[in-house]
Amino acid sequence: MLGRVNHIALAVPDLQEAVERYRACLGAKISAFQSLPDHGVTVAFVELENTKVELLEPLGDSSPIASFLEKTPNGGMHHICYEVADIEAARRFLEASGARVLGDGKPKIGAHGNPVLFLHPKDFFGTLIELEEIRDL
Ligand code: CO
Repeated sequence: MLGRVNHIALAVPDLQEAVERYRACLGAKISAFQSLPDHGVTVAFVELENTKVELLEPLGDSSPIASFLEKTPNGGMHHICYEVADIEAARRFLEASGARVLGDGKPKIGAHGNPVLFLHPKDFFGTLIELEEIRDL
């Protein structure tokens, strides 16, 4: 079911500062910022040859990463995103296997314009998992 790692997401308290640090200290190539009000985050991607690192900053009052940053104020790894070819098939398979999909269980549109789902971290040993549909896997 799983394809490539699409991205690894790191929550940061200040996206501008994080992007500047990645550029200055690591010589990183970084995408434009994107605000995703549906997800309560502003993101920028560190573009790598084999994958991406998503830097996440809270957006709005009910951001799902605000509580994460309360516990880890310096930032930290927030989720890992795997690619799947068919998100509806993945959802049915997960629900049949007893794993919990977060929210109302329906895919939302993610940062790349593709449908995404998040899986309960308690079902996966403390790590939040995002699945992103990549049709031409
Ligand atoms: Co993500």
